[in-house]
Amino acid sequence: MVGNLNLNDAIQNGNISVGIIGLGYVGLPTAIGFLDAGFNVWGVDVSQRVVDTILQGKNPTGDPEIDDIIPDPNTKKWNITTDTSIAVENCEILIVTVPTPVTSDLKPDLKYVISAGDNIFKTIEPNSGKIVVLESTVYPGVTAQSWLPLIEKYGLKEGVDVNIAYCPERFNPGDEANGVRKVARVIGSLNPKIGDTLVKIYSKLTSGRVDYVGKIEVAEAAKVIENVQRDINIALVNELARIFPALNIDIEDVLNAAATKWNFHRYTPGVGVGGHCIPVDPYYMIQRAEQVGVPAELITAARAVNRTMPIHVFSVLKDILYKNNVSANDANILFLGWSYKAEVGDHRETPAEHLALALTDADIKVSVWDPHLENDVYPNNVDVITDINAAKDFDLVVLVTGHSICINLDWESLLKNMRKPLVYDGRRVLDITKLEDMGWDVYAVGKP
Ligand SMILES: NC(=O)c1ccc[n+]([C@@H]2O[C@H](COP(=O)([O-])OP(=O)(O)OC[C@H]3O[C@@H](n4cnc5c(N)ncnc54)[C@H](O)[C@@H]3O)[C@@H](O)[C@H]2O)c1
Repeated sequence: MVGNLNLNDAIQNGNISVGIIGLGYVGLPTAIGFLDAGFNVWGVDVSQRVVDTILQGKNPTGDPEIDDIIPDPNTKKWNITTDTSIAVENCEILIVTVPTPVTSDLKPDLKYVISAGDNIFKTIEPNSGKIVVLESTVYPGVTAQSWLPLIEKYGLKEGVDVNIAYCPERFNPGDEANGVRKVARVIGSLNPKIGDTLVKIYSKLTSGRVDYVGKIEVAEAAKVIENVQRDINIALVNELARIFPALNIDIEDVLNAAATKWNFHRYTPGVGVGGHCIPVDPYYMIQRAEQVGVPAELITAARAVNRTMPIHVFSVLKDILYKNNVSANDANILFLGWSYKAEVGDHRETPAEHLALALTDADIKVSVWDPHLENDVYPNNVDVITDINAAKDFDLVVLVTGHSICINLDWESLLKNMRKPLVYDGRRVLDITKLEDMGWDVYAVGKP
């Protein structure tokens, strides 16, 4: 155990222990990153399955990016457990990477942040000087509001017995250039000295810049608005993708033209946004604004556009079937891709699910081919295609996820097996002219 005073020396020598609480998509690569950076790592997850899988050297998350890098269980400095108290005892720094979902009525669900904090603070000894960092995405105020009452409950004093801080995770799954070991970090803390210590620690983890940005709420707000901004930008292009076809204009032509201006930021329309962040985090900001009585109208409107995008696409697909004399109860649709974004094996909050549900509710049969996902992740209402070469008798193919394997499949062969030559590009990634030359009848999001 390293005392508070010589913590900075210990960081320099890689001689400290870091506990990572929550070993999911964020926590596991973070734990591996700290191990690779030379630290002693204590990884904790409440799920016995997650811990057992990691202890077999296997990847418990669906993220193929980390398939090959799960450390051998006998690796020195690599400790994995379900018991938070062991990590608290052994570590100077505890980093919390637990989920922050929304409830069914779209309100922030902070139970994981609170229960992880409770498990930590109940074990911390007075005068420990330990640093507890929240990395989960939250609205400004959550770290202090959730954890200070717990610190008090266990008779501890913030700044004396324990220090709290916030450092959001910003890596981009499936994007090596912006992985855990490369992405820039910001740190908020009540105490600038703790901020400085954390800058030193995170600078060992990432080659990106690491900044102490002042109070915790600034770092919390920075993270949430990064995702709010993406949601708004994507919502704008999705809204335009609804408007322009009604004006007989293809949105891609408009975007190509607008993008010739130096300060135009190009976004691509699609069947909807998914994943653990963009469809979730804006609700955190909306809630906080509501708490202080300020309307978050733009953020709320953007959410509504992106949230309803699968329903918009559903009505477009129904029209396509109708125009081509395919009756709903006889229609057979093939989805190419199911994960929420290209090249990742993550189906959380995927818009594919909402689109499939709308179609099957209308008695339209949906099958899916997504080689990035295991066969057991799909809802019961869809059929799973494992061999695309055997896919036949479909009326309409919908490209839902822009996986390169979907874009580059053998379109000539697929066409021969179709009942109707209809394809809908839900991501604007297909070469429309080439497909039309082959004999496909091509529709696309934002295309009249
Ligand atoms: N997935 C991403 O791409 C991404 C990117 C940036 C930020 N984030 C944020 O990071 C946070 C974590 O997301 P994730 O995708 O890693 O979630 P996840 O669901 O993949 O993993 C969370 C893990 O925490 C465990 N857990 C829950 N409560 C616990 C507790 N009390 N103690 C120990 N373990 C506990 C769960 O069993 C699970 O394995 C969220 O706030 C998310 O918004 C995610």
